[in-house]
Amino acid sequence: MTVIVRSDSDVATPSELTKKMRKDLILLKDYSVEEIDSILDRGDFWADNLNSKISSAPRTVANPVVVNLFFEPSTRTRFSFELAARKLGYHVLNFDAKSSSTAKGETLYDTLRTFEAMGVDTAIIRTSEEGILQEIAPQVNVSLINAGAGANEHPSQALLDLLTIRQEFGRIEGLQVAIIGDVKHSRVANSNVIALSKYGASIRLAGPEQWMPAQVEGDVQITSVDDAIQGADVVMMLRVQNERHALTNTIDNYLESYGLSKTRYAAMKEGAIIMHPAPFNRGIEIDGDLVEKPNSRIYTQVSNGVAIRMAVLELCNKA
Ligand code: CP
Repeated sequence: MTVIVRSDSDVATPSELTKKMRKDLILLKDYSVEEIDSILDRGDFWADNLNSKISSAPRTVANPVVVNLFFEPSTRTRFSFELAARKLGYHVLNFDAKSSSTAKGETLYDTLRTFEAMGVDTAIIRTSEEGILQEIAPQVNVSLINAGAGANEHPSQALLDLLTIRQEFGRIEGLQVAIIGDVKHSRVANSNVIALSKYGASIRLAGPEQWMPAQVEGDVQITSVDDAIQGADVVMMLRVQNERHALTNTIDNYLESYGLSKTRYAAMKEGAIIMHPAPFNRGIEIDGDLVEKPNSRIYTQVSNGVAIRMAVLELCNKA
């Protein structure tokens, strides 16, 4: 492992940081392009220095404590937030919903007030309940970070996706992005459509008709899978979310009908990249052999997840 020791001059000054701070990250739709740019810039910095011994940017709290409150399963988001926090020198509490007092009926608000009383600064929350984080945020001092809320938004995933795209192409504006699969139930797709639209990317959505949104706005089109892939710079495949519906079992040959098969891969534009938020179903939405192709950025997305979450933790002003 390369260890780079840098001086404090390499990190943002308190005044630079304060200008960029927010208490919460709940919905990317509430963030401006300038704010997102500053998170991506900081994420890029951490991506280049993931294993270095740089101290984090100056903080408003000396020894921040974060708690991971995951009410739905997660590997990438949960552990990359934990790694990000540890790399920044924060204390991390992990919460097990099944063995906590939420199993006795304690509400999320009361759980957050309880952690706040213990001195927790930031709560990273994954929940199936859409809207609950926006409702609670003004009522608590603890910073809230949305780690995926129902089918609504997954902002840190879209941020790491934007970073991956920007690293690849040097820009987001003007790119053609195909988002394919279970769009309707995907908080990843929703956050990406919101964020990519802010940057002026052209978006094509494709997949089973039942999983397409009822309406689209701006430079967003619903097309066939083949049309979406044709000419796309980014082919972003989505996981079929079996836990949110039973439809998959009724779609025969999903890979051939709607997935990234070898035939569709061969039709991708030269220089185009494959993305997937993961976890992926090999052989369903993506041919298993394509996951680790040289133009797949699926594991780059995972690495960028740690870097972008370091930037997000620094952004939220309690930590
Ligand atoms: N992409 C994503 O959110 O993965 P996890 O469910 O493993 O966190």
